[in-house]
Amino acid sequence: MTNKIVKWVAAGGCAPIVLVGAFLAYVQLTGIRSYRHAAPARHVEVTPERAAAGKKLAMTLCIGCHLDGSTGRLTGKLMADLTSEFGVVYSANITRSKAAWHRRLVGR
Ligand code: HEC
Repeated sequence: MTNKIVKWVAAGGCAPIVLVGAFLAYVQLTGIRSYRHAAPARHVEVTPERAAAGKKLAMTLCIGCHLDGSTGRLTGKLMADLTSEFGVVYSANITRSKAAWHRRLVGR
């Protein structure tokens, strides 16, 4: 009698595992759906006011990580403050300059 109860409880405990396994098998076999979509067309009119506001924002928010002291521009630099757990990280060159030293380093 006790044996039967233990068996039923064990079977009930396995049910969620079986259901999750069946769902994972279903996803594996049918694949994850993807949908085609067109990126919305974007056009931003550049005005002197917008350019000045953007420069102000970039010089407030972005210089901490992107300003390279040797170029005096937002050409990216070694993120020396990061702990080694993250490896060696450079911030990106966010100017159009192709001459930035890290572009040569990372090849972009
Ligand atoms: C806390 C540091 C930090 C700040 C602040 C920061 N960035 Fe970055 N940014 C990075 C790092 C590091 C990368 C390089 C990431 C990589 O290569 O995966 C990066 C990459 C980028 C890239 C390149 C993304 C790409 O796909 O290659 C752009 C564009 C960018 N930043 C713009 C900005 C702008 C604009 C601001 C200010 C509004 C800003 N970042 C502020 C650290 C920062």
